Amino acid sequence: MKINYADFFISSTVWSKCPEPDKPEYAMIGRSNVGKSSLINMLTGRKKLAKISGTPGKTITINHFQINGDWYLVDLPGYGYAKRSKTERSKWEKMIKGYILNRVNLMSLFVLVDVRHEPQKNDTEFIEWLGISNIPFVIVFTKADKLTRNQLEGNLASYKNSLLEKWEELPPIIVTSSETALGKDELLTYVENTNKLFEQIPKQ
Ligand code: GTP
Ligand code: MG
Repeated sequence: MKINYADFFISSTVWSKCPEPDKPEYAMIGRSNVGKSSLINMLTGRKKLAKISGTPGKTITINHFQINGDWYLVDLPGYGYAKRSKTERSKWEKMIKGYILNRVNLMSLFVLVDVRHEPQKNDTEFIEWLGISNIPFVIVFTKADKLTRNQLEGNLASYKNSLLEKWEELPPIIVTSSETALGKDELLTYVENTNKLFEQIPKQ
């Protein structure tokens, strides 16, 4: 798929205020600083579309981007940001879980994981919660440019092994870099194919 049009659409504080669910959508989620906003910019080819910052915790709302007029990409606030207070974290959890469980046009969640690190508790717990809640997701590894080929393959193999301790089957996995655009075609092809399934969801 080629992206001909990409623009910011709206920021919402709660799922019920998100745009009409009349188009398929895909949301980026993952730890603060994992590269969610950078991936949106890489996919759309617009360097400043989603705000990137060296400071974690920059994204604090549900941000919709309209793509090609027929689907949405959504930037969500990161989890696991240590400097957030307990109240802020529980607010985050309510907002994110409400969005994920209630958004009828959410085709798949892109769970971003920094490929440099060992499996982290908050990622693993979140992925387990998705499984229990029956939410389709893709694991999108980020920052592949920061590793050598050998390191990358070693890390991917050990991550997959740790997933297979809990899961019978691996979810779809896409390896990306926002620096080199690795994984761009693969992700957009996934969206293109999954968009076709949207027609089959009965309109509310
Ligand atoms: P929050 O909104 O705070 O949750 O962060 P985020 O997940 O949106 O991360 P963001 O895209 O803002 O990126 C965080 C930092 O990682 C920035 O300094 C980016 O430039 C850097 N970064 C993101 N993706 C990549 C990548 O693929 N390769 C490299 N080398 N750096 C990356
Ligand atoms: Mg962000």
